[in-house]
Amino acid sequence: MKKLKIADGIHMLTMNVDNILFEGMWELANGVTLNSYIVQGDKTAIIDGVIGWDGVPETLYKSLEEIGVDPQSIDYLIVNHMEPDHSGWISNFRKIKDDFTIICTDKASKMVTSFYGEDRIRTVKEGDALDLGQGKVLSFHPVPNVHWPDTMYTYDRDIKTLFSCDMFGTFGRMGDHSFDDELTPEEVAFFESEGIRYYSNVMATFTPSVKKAIEKAQTMDISIIAPGHGPVYRKNPRKIIDDYIRFTRYAEGAGKDEVTILWGSMYGMTGKAVDYVEGILQREGVKHNKLEMPLESDSEMVATVLRSAGIIIAAPTYEYKLFPPVAAALNELGRKRITGKAAFRFGSYGWSGGAERELAEIMERNKMNWDFIESVEFEGAPKEEDFARIEAGVLELIEKMKAKVI
Ligand code: FEO
Repeated sequence: MKKLKIADGIHMLTMNVDNILFEGMWELANGVTLNSYIVQGDKTAIIDGVIGWDGVPETLYKSLEEIGVDPQSIDYLIVNHMEPDHSGWISNFRKIKDDFTIICTDKASKMVTSFYGEDRIRTVKEGDALDLGQGKVLSFHPVPNVHWPDTMYTYDRDIKTLFSCDMFGTFGRMGDHSFDDELTPEEVAFFESEGIRYYSNVMATFTPSVKKAIEKAQTMDISIIAPGHGPVYRKNPRKIIDDYIRFTRYAEGAGKDEVTILWGSMYGMTGKAVDYVEGILQREGVKHNKLEMPLESDSEMVATVLRSAGIIIAAPTYEYKLFPPVAAALNELGRKRITGKAAFRFGSYGWSGGAERELAEIMERNKMNWDFIESVEFEGAPKEEDFARIEAGVLELIEKMKAKVI
């Protein structure tokens, strides 16, 4: 666990977590940090937990003591968000310290009680404040559904620090550099990429609520953004706000100037056409990503599709429907409300079609509103005329996606 001073009276504790499935399902290729913040006036508050998944280790107490905080002096636990990556240590903390008050929204309060049996809770509403003394006044600002209904910002009026919990977070483990002004260009690119992974895996379903939370942040006078995951932004907090604005646009159909081929093939017939399409994209100088399903992790798949302006779905008919691993991927993208992408599908069939019908059903059921070029289906292996139709489709997609590139 690392301890860092953010400003006078504000410290961060941070730890990297690897080898977990985030939310029990997202494989994290590059880990994640859990950040917690200690604010000290005459009284002391700890904002969100950093304790990992299984209790309060000795290292926490040692870390607190090293920054001059006696764990017994903690008066308030501010729970910006009840998800157990931030709150899972409360019951263990209660075992050794019985007189702290939990501060959270009304919606979080119900869950703090149902998950941990806690009842010493002060619920807060928009603009409520907590004076810790010595000029440290914290105010509370609900931002519901980013990504649970309970979520709120905590704002330190003294240093103008926004403790944003999941909002403005990223995946990715931190090395020696934890502040934006310390990051190398490679680390900036890494956290931008991990931010997209995080946004797509955790936040994308709630894009309308994220937009409201961004709007609220933009009404506040912010010098530092201190999230629950990823780096602290003290030099240019605007950067992560602008990144998040871009991510919301990715979820609504915009993307980087790249094409993702989401594909699967039973016996290589559709695969031959994928190889052909790769050659076209290379010839046209279009960056592309290949995601073979079901071999790709959902975490990587959702992130890559989210950031791409153009999507090619290459999948055959299987038992009168769309090849199941690709259908499952599209359903996941639908659950994540990734809408409005420019798209083109092709695929092989044997004795019957049916893939197109299921593709339309998935789009309709999830209200995905993807903008499709006319699909190309071919019987068995692709022939010369099929390759020609596929090439025309790919070139049309490249034209169509230009309007979506940001
Ligand atoms: Fe970082 Fe929604 O938990």
